[in-house]
Amino acid sequence: MKLHTSKLNISIGKIKAGFFYKVYHVFKDKFSEDLKKKLSGAIDSAIFTGDLGQQYIDHHNKILYIGIGDEKKISLRKIAGIYIKLGEQLIKWKDLGLEIYVGELTTKFKPELISYQLANSLEIGAFPVDSLSKSYREKQINPGKIGIVFETSHEEKEGAKGIEKSKVVSRYLNAARYVEHLPANHFTPEEFVSRSKEIAKENKLKITVFDEPQLKREKLNGILSVCQGSDKKPKMIIIEYTPKNPISKEKLAIIGKGLTFDSGGISIKPSADMHEMKYDMCGAAAAIHAIGAIAKLGLRVPVIAAIGVAENMPSSNAIKPGDVYTAYNGITVEVQNTDAEGRLVLGDVMAYVTKKYKPEYMVDLATLTGAVIIALGHEAAGVMSNSAELTAYIKSASETSEDRVWELPLWEEYGEDLKSDIADIRNIAGVGRGAGTLSAAQYLQKFVEGDVKWAHIDIAGTAWRSKPSGAQCSGPTGYGVRLLVDLVEELEHKKSGKN
Ligand code: BES
Ligand code: MG
Ligand code: ZN
Repeated sequence: MKLHTSKLNISIGKIKAGFFYKVYHVFKDKFSEDLKKKLSGAIDSAIFTGDLGQQYIDHHNKILYIGIGDEKKISLRKIAGIYIKLGEQLIKWKDLGLEIYVGELTTKFKPELISYQLANSLEIGAFPVDSLSKSYREKQINPGKIGIVFETSHEEKEGAKGIEKSKVVSRYLNAARYVEHLPANHFTPEEFVSRSKEIAKENKLKITVFDEPQLKREKLNGILSVCQGSDKKPKMIIIEYTPKNPISKEKLAIIGKGLTFDSGGISIKPSADMHEMKYDMCGAAAAIHAIGAIAKLGLRVPVIAAIGVAENMPSSNAIKPGDVYTAYNGITVEVQNTDAEGRLVLGDVMAYVTKKYKPEYMVDLATLTGAVIIALGHEAAGVMSNSAELTAYIKSASETSEDRVWELPLWEEYGEDLKSDIADIRNIAGVGRGAGTLSAAQYLQKFVEGDVKWAHIDIAGTAWRSKPSGAQCSGPTGYGVRLLVDLVEELEHKKSGKN
């Protein structure tokens, strides 16, 4: 299964040949008389006002004007949103190239960040994920060249870094979106293994796959319990990246929830939106694609990605409400709700990783609770952490990547109702209790061994969405790939004493 991505060719500087339009950005409040005059020849200037996202095409002079709204309210995420849309248009315009002038934006944002966000967004927009449709099969996309033009050679040099980074990141990001959109009959735990191996091979990374016999031998009973009702076999996959010239020995572990389908099991979900539970593997998809990008970029921090992969199905073999199993770390768990399955899988992977790899930092990404959507909607993922230091890195990575996070409390009181009458703990805090996202985090914390700095990121609201927002596209978003890349850059800077 090859890594899919867009066919864009983005570079710094003017386009030398071919058919292309120039792109100018127009602030609403800076809409100059000059420009108004130029436009009014062809169009009523009341129509093009410079409002955010508005477009005016001057075919005669081959110029595309893009409105970027109020100067005071401009943000990278707004620009990203505009360029995702432009990426979508590009593949309809076939071989048209674009020469994009970003001079107006360099007073607001660093050139590297502008070109990174701009390029990433075009790449996302130009890569629709509808691979099982007739239109996709018949699509012949050969977009023209794209040049990003800065005003000074210093800015160009900085901007070029953003383009280089985006070439790698957008490829893995789109590849993540691709596997995320695949339904459960096309992307099974076995497929997860193939895709992981491919990422490992491409970057010469060590990969270890735990099939059912190894999971049994290691007593990873949380993963096994969840997959008990399915005819698919569960997996744990660990990819290790050791940089050639690491900045320090301390590792970051990335953990991902990889439920290729979550029906709820015997505690079955209502049917209305159940099809969306093919996306319950987005955390794991982000984890393995992020490590691919991190390795390809040659970032100087040792990273491991570990994912638990399973399918949650009802059957006579399925785990039943009330069943008790012994987790990898020896804790006995009463499974009162088989739909709270992500934590069972993650608990084992996290305990295994902290014991065997002793990372300094551990971040898990999981579509863990519907409750996080109640709290934050689809705009931000919830982050809960035992380390203010790690939280700060994640927050700054969130600002540069535009994968938004919002901090929620990891207070032990939220875990008080996880007590079981017959086992060490139960997997839910009780029927109808509030703060489901926070009790889930309390549950997970019981599987974090030693003094590892850990953050749990609940991506149930951000992994896929029905309408775009900022740097996030509609459909599966690949949320987390960009965040994790920037997190590793943060760690790299910190260890090298740059900040
Ligand atoms: N995968 C779901 C969480 C989810 C729900 C993600 C909706 C995205 C959209 C998870 O396994 C789950 O079912 N969680 C339960 C937990 C509950 C039983 C304590 C939930 O959120 O309802
Ligand atoms: Mg569930
Ligand atoms: Zn789930």
